[in-house]
Amino acid sequence: MDSKNLLGILLLLSDFEPKTAKSGEPLPLSRSVRTTVLAEGRVPDSRFTQLLTYFWAHALRDVLYAHDTFKYLSWKPYCCQEKGKTDKECIPNIIPDDDPVHRFSSVRCMNLTRPESFQSVGCLKKDTVPERIVSSTPTFDLSQIYGISLKIANEKARLLEKGMLKYEVENSKLWPPSTKIPVNVCILNQKPYEKRCHDTSDEGSNSALGLNLFTIWTWRLHNRIATTLSELNPCWDDDRLFFTTRDIVIAITMQIYFYEMSPALMGFDNLVREGVISPYKEFRDVYDENIIPQVSLEFPFVQRWAHTIQEGKLKMYDANGNYLKEHRIVNMTFRTGYLVDNLEYITQGSFRQPAAKVDYIIDPDVAQTGFGPHQLAADLATSDLTKNRYFGFAPYIKYRKLCSGKTYSTFEDLLDVIDSQRIELLKEKYKNMEDIDLIAGIWVEKLVRGGSVPVTLYCVVVEQMLRTVVSDRHWYERPNRPNAFSLEQLLEIRKASVAQFMCAVGDTVTEIQPHAFFLPGKGNEMRSCKDIQKINLSPWKDFSCNGRNGKQNKNYEI
Ligand SMILES: *[C@@H]1O[C@H](CO)[C@@H](O)[C@H](O)[C@H]1NC(C)=O
Ligand SMILES: *[C@@H]1O[C@H](CO)[C@@H](O)[C@H](O)[C@H]1NC(C)=O
Repeated sequence: MDSKNLLGILLLLSDFEPKTAKSGEPLPLSRSVRTTVLAEGRVPDSRFTQLLTYFWAHALRDVLYAHDTFKYLSWKPYCCQEKGKTDKECIPNIIPDDDPVHRFSSVRCMNLTRPESFQSVGCLKKDTVPERIVSSTPTFDLSQIYGISLKIANEKARLLEKGMLKYEVENSKLWPPSTKIPVNVCILNQKPYEKRCHDTSDEGSNSALGLNLFTIWTWRLHNRIATTLSELNPCWDDDRLFFTTRDIVIAITMQIYFYEMSPALMGFDNLVREGVISPYKEFRDVYDENIIPQVSLEFPFVQRWAHTIQEGKLKMYDANGNYLKEHRIVNMTFRTGYLVDNLEYITQGSFRQPAAKVDYIIDPDVAQTGFGPHQLAADLATSDLTKNRYFGFAPYIKYRKLCSGKTYSTFEDLLDVIDSQRIELLKEKYKNMEDIDLIAGIWVEKLVRGGSVPVTLYCVVVEQMLRTVVSDRHWYERPNRPNAFSLEQLLEIRKASVAQFMCAVGDTVTEIQPHAFFLPGKGNEMRSCKDIQKINLSPWKDFSCNGRNGKQNKNYEI
């Protein structure tokens, strides 16, 4: 799959080296920009839960899978060694001598490899706009669960019976199928006790904790819906059950993504005004066959800003909300085995623990450790900035112009979106305002009115979400797509919420706050799952099953 640059401007010089500063000198070191503009510390948010950061990662994973991390962790792990100096793929981050943390250590380099584009691997001519190689599909169709092709779905995911996905039971919990070979991607499993490692359509399901959790939960949701549908419609075969269930699971995920998570971050009124979401519950159809279903290169990239609200500590609770213990989240990457005994405590914590505050402060684990014991030192935000340069994105101010229509000629022109103190920080590192990197600008921006994300992030994300709704022929809100939902069915999908999702598939979740991306509290009190609105599958009843329909009075709620 390819993804195109939003502005369509080619900024990489020949041979895919990043541009230099306006003065002709190299740009300031990524690490020094990062340590200058983002402070380190731990400040909990007063509104958002961890669950929001988990779901956010899960939603993006659907359209972004690029092997970036795997490449320098496993395939080319030598970028900071002698060998790395001669491998063109290596682009390690240099740590300056006056680094606030590492001036006290001997670490002078952090591993990183080049992002791959069709141009950099030689499939397309070098003087064309870089198109990144992404191995997920460009539509929101849960590629991370169902695979990027039917072949993968059939081999890796489907049980090929009653519409279900393959599953295993351990500790009386339902899990995706696991790897049987001893060498596996779960490099942090503490052997010999921790063994479990998913063998699904996407090996990345074992990586970051949030992705892992939503893989397990979505897996369970699928089987729960498939089972209910097969009781409702006993005459349906495996294919029919599978594809109907898949369609429902994707729609539920998109309903939560567009109508619950995005409004929480970007503001409900904002998104209605932009046309990203509809204020009505009925169908909406804005399909335009002339718009190609594509994901801009900037869309997943700017959302790496979320690293700044990623909490480093994972707090675990029991089902009554009693705090039990904590663990470092960075130690959980590629460690599915840990979940076998702890999933219910992590689940309970996901909607009780705050995310890190939306501010200009980044958690020290995210900024120093990054991948736990995989690496001596890794600064995810510094890597983000370096990748920014290798993707060849236009200067930050070009995106400002795209978003606001204004032209920016002096640093002070940025006062509408960046406060003066932070403009000073930028000036310390960038001699010319055209040198400001896209993500560096976003790090210091003010938040969009009525929302909690930086203004340029908002602008890029809205552009993509609009394009997605218009270009996806199979968009769940359309009445005219192949196998479209009936209105009754759509109205059930509209009832989806992440709270209901957690009640359905989260271990030991019997009570939760109705708006589970927000912390429980006044107006969002925890309540029994019985009192959380459910989705009823009765509208999927197929009357042609000839009286062999499921039992009367049975509850088809999930
Ligand atoms: C994280 O992993 C490192 C390396 O294995 C270990 O030294 C450290 O104790 C772990 N931290 C926690 C909180 O488990
Ligand atoms: C670079 O990667 C290697 C192999 O994974 C690792 O041993 C080393 O600690 C890493 N370097 C740093 C600075 O983290």
